[in-house]
Amino acid sequence: MKALAVTPRKKYSAHLRDVPVPDIGDSEVLVRSVRAGVCGTDREIHEGLYGSAPRGVDYLVLGHESSGIVESVGRSVHGFEKGQYVVRAVRRPCDGCANCSAGANDMCSSGNFSESGIKELHGCMAEYFKDESRYLIQIPADLGGVSVLLEPLSVVEKVLRQARTIQQRLVWRPKTAMVIGAGPIGILQAMLLINEGMDVYVAARSAPGNLKSRLAESIGAAYVSTSCTSFENIVKQIGSLDFVVEASGDSSMAFQAIDAAGNNGVVCLTSITCGNKEVSVPSDKVNLNAVLGNKVVFGSVNANIIDHYNGVRSLKKFMDRWPDVVNAMFTHRVPLQQYERAFESRSDDIKTTIEIS
Ligand code: BGC
Repeated sequence: MKALAVTPRKKYSAHLRDVPVPDIGDSEVLVRSVRAGVCGTDREIHEGLYGSAPRGVDYLVLGHESSGIVESVGRSVHGFEKGQYVVRAVRRPCDGCANCSAGANDMCSSGNFSESGIKELHGCMAEYFKDESRYLIQIPADLGGVSVLLEPLSVVEKVLRQARTIQQRLVWRPKTAMVIGAGPIGILQAMLLINEGMDVYVAARSAPGNLKSRLAESIGAAYVSTSCTSFENIVKQIGSLDFVVEASGDSSMAFQAIDAAGNNGVVCLTSITCGNKEVSVPSDKVNLNAVLGNKVVFGSVNANIIDHYNGVRSLKKFMDRWPDVVNAMFTHRVPLQQYERAFESRSDDIKTTIEIS
């Protein structure tokens, strides 16, 4: 079968290669890949900045935003049947840290976890992939076509779940939130917070009137462009923010996000920035406001299995409430054979997918 692979740490090494269809063991499921999402992490792996191959081979099959259909199931697998849509959880536990042992692979303390399509485990950008049934999330048939959004949505669910847990330190009734960045994570995060009843601002670079601003406004968020007004002025005009989620992919925004949160506010940083950008920061001001405002700043990556199940429920709600917006997020569909086009950068792109079968 064909698979899209890279030579990890080698610049622009993505290539199609022939690999065997995986054999499944008794507790495994063979999945026919329908499509895979492409995100900043895949682009950084393709650029040689990130990623590592499974032990014993020098290539990594890409793809961690999966969507597929069960092809066959191992003898001891229950509850899965041929024809069902499934999505694969990305992270696998390390060999025994307290969090992985408790099922929280997303909070691995040792760093020795593996991640499909990213770190030491082949991904889903192949005609078939296999996995243990416990790492596969079943998707209702009516959500199958958009289920490739579940992986980024699980990341977004984790952000909110953790913010709520952390904010149990006080009485927290978040009313106003800001999401920085209007890519898939930004839009999905905004949908989730609006569904929770918050007033949401989406701040991004693109000038108003583009697809990103139109989608943000269609779900009831206020879109603010940092190319028209400085971020500092935008925040001054809004007033106090209870919750700020940084998802712009620009590390310098992390410090602005911290400063943007109001008293008792919580800031979540989600951008994975593999470069070596340096900026100067008004550290006295940012620090003073964080201390005097009792702010919390936390980083968040990956997601627990709970976040995937919450994500399936949210995806259903989003499809009921904003079907056109969810569908409009799919801006660029690329057949597997033309994978190079999936790595081109386009300013109006929200979610690029590689269409596999
Ligand atoms: C993925 C996460 C993963 C992270 C770090 C992100 O793009 O969505 O599942 O944990 O990259 O490798």
